[in-house]
Amino acid sequence: MNLDYLALEFVRVTEKAAIEAAKWIGKGDGKAADKAAVDAMRSALNEIAFSGEIVIGEGAKDESHELYVGEKVGNGTMPEVDIAVDPLECTDSVAYGRTNAITVIATGPKGTLYKAADSYMQKLAVPPAAKDKINLDAPAKDTIRAVAHALGKDVSEITVALLDRERHEKLKNEIRSAGARLQLFTDGDVAMALATCLPESPVDILMGIGGSSEAVLAAAAMRTLGGELLVRWKPKDEKHIARLNAAGITQFDDIMRAEDLAKGDDLTFTATGVLTGPLAKGVIFTRDHITTHTIVISSKSKITRFIETRHTHRK
Ligand code: FBP
Repeated sequence: MNLDYLALEFVRVTEKAAIEAAKWIGKGDGKAADKAAVDAMRSALNEIAFSGEIVIGEGAKDESHELYVGEKVGNGTMPEVDIAVDPLECTDSVAYGRTNAITVIATGPKGTLYKAADSYMQKLAVPPAAKDKINLDAPAKDTIRAVAHALGKDVSEITVALLDRERHEKLKNEIRSAGARLQLFTDGDVAMALATCLPESPVDILMGIGGSSEAVLAAAAMRTLGGELLVRWKPKDEKHIARLNAAGITQFDDIMRAEDLAKGDDLTFTATGVLTGPLAKGVIFTRDHITTHTIVISSKSKITRFIETRHTHRK
């Protein structure tokens, strides 16, 4: 199987979802932004020739009527794939007009994407040069030093991206006392994980605890970009533990790598910017056009494309 062409087919899907979500920027209504993206993504997906089963989506069937885990999408023809979607990654960023929102789809042949129940994971993402030099249990200062050494940089030149959350107070102080620079961000650790592998991005390391679905999405792209993503379950409460147990996950200490979350060498990742972030610029509305920016990563061909599209929408 070669799913490269599907990654490109999905450009139209993520573009449509991004345009619909972008209409809600700053309106304070995350639910409406998310619904707009979900509706657009779902109807566009069903026009495409493939059989997808959602493994990462909008939640379980009883929580969501659209793009729920287990839902079949596509027009039912070959190929059969696992599909992970986040129609709107960073709902709050759109609601409050911040940065770094994307609409994203990742795929792999059936059975290749990890069916991560919705919870949290501790994450550590680094660029290719530091791939084999990291350990999720190492203190932050050791990780920073190892990555700096692998990249031929001074520790003071390393930038660590960290979700700006109370749970990260201790880690924030550890990063600062190690002497590295800190990029605190409000939302969007899929983009920040991938940013560690993009030469034009200042981010060298992503640390901290974020969503489990986002880990699988990021892993599909990291596999091609050549970096590493190490994760471990970090359920936040009893409800999360029960959800993970119901999904058959009882071991929370195990460390997983990107290749455990997204297996094989036929993975795709397609993301369109809603609000500008490290992966793509956001949607731009002009008098004559709507312009979208999409990153497409295909593991079979090892190609990363940056696609700018002008959608003519006015006479
Ligand atoms: P949503 O759009 O689903 O809210 O995700 C945004 C995000 O920032 C993710 O990138 C991140 O993994 C997760 O939220 C962190 O969760 P929380 O906001 O609960 O700390």
